[in-house]
Amino acid sequence: MTRTSILLVLALCASVKCLLGDFVTAKLGESVKLSASRSCTGDEKFTLIKRLKDDSPLTVALRVDGVWEPGLNYTSRISHHSVFGVVLSRLNINDNGLYEFTCGGEIVTLIQLEIFRATPVSVSEGGTVELPCYYYTAGELVKSVRWERNGSLVIEMDRASREIRYGTGFEGKGSVSANWYLEGNLSLTLKRAQLEDTGDYLCYIQQDEDAKRRRGHPAAATLTVSKRHPDPDHVCPKDEEKKGMESWSIVAITVFLTLVIVGPSAFVLGWWLKSCR
Ligand SMILES: *[C@@H]1O[C@H](CO)[C@@H](O)[C@H](O)[C@H]1NC(C)=O
Ligand SMILES: *[C@@H]1O[C@H](CO)[C@@H](O)[C@H](O)[C@H]1NC(C)=O
Ligand SMILES: *[C@@H]1O[C@H](CO)[C@@H](O)[C@H](O)[C@H]1NC(C)=O
Repeated sequence: MTRTSILLVLALCASVKCLLGDFVTAKLGESVKLSASRSCTGDEKFTLIKRLKDDSPLTVALRVDGVWEPGLNYTSRISHHSVFGVVLSRLNINDNGLYEFTCGGEIVTLIQLEIFRATPVSVSEGGTVELPCYYYTAGELVKSVRWERNGSLVIEMDRASREIRYGTGFEGKGSVSANWYLEGNLSLTLKRAQLEDTGDYLCYIQQDEDAKRRRGHPAAATLTVSKRHPDPDHVCPKDEEKKGMESWSIVAITVFLTLVIVGPSAFVLGWWLKSCR
């Protein structure tokens, strides 16, 4: 590529958001809503296409008489949502990529879909849990590390100032290592886990230039918080009572057996031995 053509690409990037569009993240196996920023007017052809890795277009859906219908390769996975768009379900890794809503051949909306796979992590209520995440930070202009739960802020720590911002409910509860940048360890530690902490946690680093975000590895963790089990050392009074009764019955049965069976047999045995002399 010559210098001028690179400049041309950069100029194009600036005008059409570098063909990146809005970022939408969705979880592997789940569903996502894809909508255009505006609808088509009149009888223009309104379609949703996906750009494959080799840049070839694949029709995902097209609007016919006001209703979105799936393209050939999407028959069982596309459903109509509104005049603006569709829901794509049972997401797979190949659903990653660039989606274009086009109106009469002209692009109206670009969407960059990112499918993430989440590591399952579980903790019981009140416990401490670590959600792993790493990123190769050496030599990269990194502004901050950021964690989100279901799309909202959990914690963000600035690299230079070490200033921390918390999402509601995570003040003093979530933390990342102060050395995160030096070691590339973005892992999140959550203390005093509560049932409402359940959700999908995604980790990112934000780059200096226009705060572009990059996902860490693994990109996400799905946290499950289970109800705390009763302490095994602590026995309820009812159980104790039951236990007491059980041991009493064992004693009673032993006494009964001794009196009714062993006693008379010993007597009979004694008498028999005596009579044999
Ligand atoms: C779309 O479906 C056709 C027919 O089933 C198939 O040949 C083609 O490989 C599919 N394309 C993609 C990108 O999945
Ligand atoms: C990453 O940091 C967490 C604490 O934030 C720590 O528990 C964990 O051991 C670190 N991982 C490695 C590989 O050092
Ligand atoms: C986050 O999303 C998960 C899965 O969609 C859901 O089960 C959980 O309740 C959500 N948590 C919050 C706090 O919204």
